[in-house]
Amino acid sequence: MGNVTVITGGTSGIGRAIVEKIAEHSSEGDKIIVNYGHNDQNARQLLISFEEELRSRIILIREDLSKYENIDPFCKKIKEKTDHIDWLVLNTGVGTYLPFEEYTFDLWDNIMRTNLSVPAFLIRELSELMAVNGNVILMASHAGQVPYSSSVVYGVTKAGLIFLARTLVKVLEKRRVSINAIAPGFIETRWQDGRSEESYERINKKIALHRFGEPSEVADLCWSVLNNDYLNGSVFEVHGGYNYF
Ligand SMILES: NC(=O)c1ccc[n+]([C@@H]2O[C@H](COP(=O)([O-])OP(=O)(O)OC[C@H]3O[C@@H](n4cnc5c(N)ncnc54)[C@H](OP(=O)(O)O)[C@@H]3O)[C@@H](O)[C@H]2O)c1
Repeated sequence: MGNVTVITGGTSGIGRAIVEKIAEHSSEGDKIIVNYGHNDQNARQLLISFEEELRSRIILIREDLSKYENIDPFCKKIKEKTDHIDWLVLNTGVGTYLPFEEYTFDLWDNIMRTNLSVPAFLIRELSELMAVNGNVILMASHAGQVPYSSSVVYGVTKAGLIFLARTLVKVLEKRRVSINAIAPGFIETRWQDGRSEESYERINKKIALHRFGEPSEVADLCWSVLNNDYLNGSVFEVHGGYNYF
């Protein structure tokens, strides 16, 4: 039975690096089911970046996972492609730098659903497919561990994901499925597009390694967590030594 990964938000940044890492180590019969929300061009670019053999192991599913009504169709599409999941990586995340005073109910709800609520219900819906000794990873953030007033709702959702990982340990116990969270600091993805030199310098001064992380460095951590069957209910930080002064 091949190893089956399902990853959300797998066509860009950290998610893409995780797909590349898993594909690199994959064998014949393995499948990597890669979800994305909107950008077909990114999805196509990811696909054509692989040699034919690896490409044949990748299954793309476009589904906007900011909406509850898309959970069912998404899970149905997954069930058409596989009868089990070994690794479920819930990586999709969105944020806003709008001041808290300017938030609308819709903005709050959209970020809550995308980052926290939909992932929670995806785990519920897909847990029956999870193989014994399967692993779930939730992509949280350092912003879910320390308060940032510049991204209130984002931080709240990421703190929620960390608590979800801990809380679901007992729920998933009967299937011997593990669940962990990864909490990256500042990672060089399109999230940093438009960041000024001054902003980079200010933040780099707070990072002991004096640089932003690479998506591949988060993917390396993710790979280690997925391959260690004794990790469960833990949070793994990857931030180059942020705020240790
Ligand atoms: N970059 C950082 O510094 C950083 C730090 C800490 C934590 N994180 C977390 O790491 C994760 C990935 O971040 P990233 O920087 O790699 O982001 P990214 O480059 O913007 O990639 C986001 C991925 O999520 C998908 N996505 C967005 N909205 C979606 C939706 N509604 N439904 C389905 N897929 C959707 C995107 O596909 P489409 O474009 O096609 O929608 C894309 O594949 C997020 O959870 C983020 O919070 C990032």
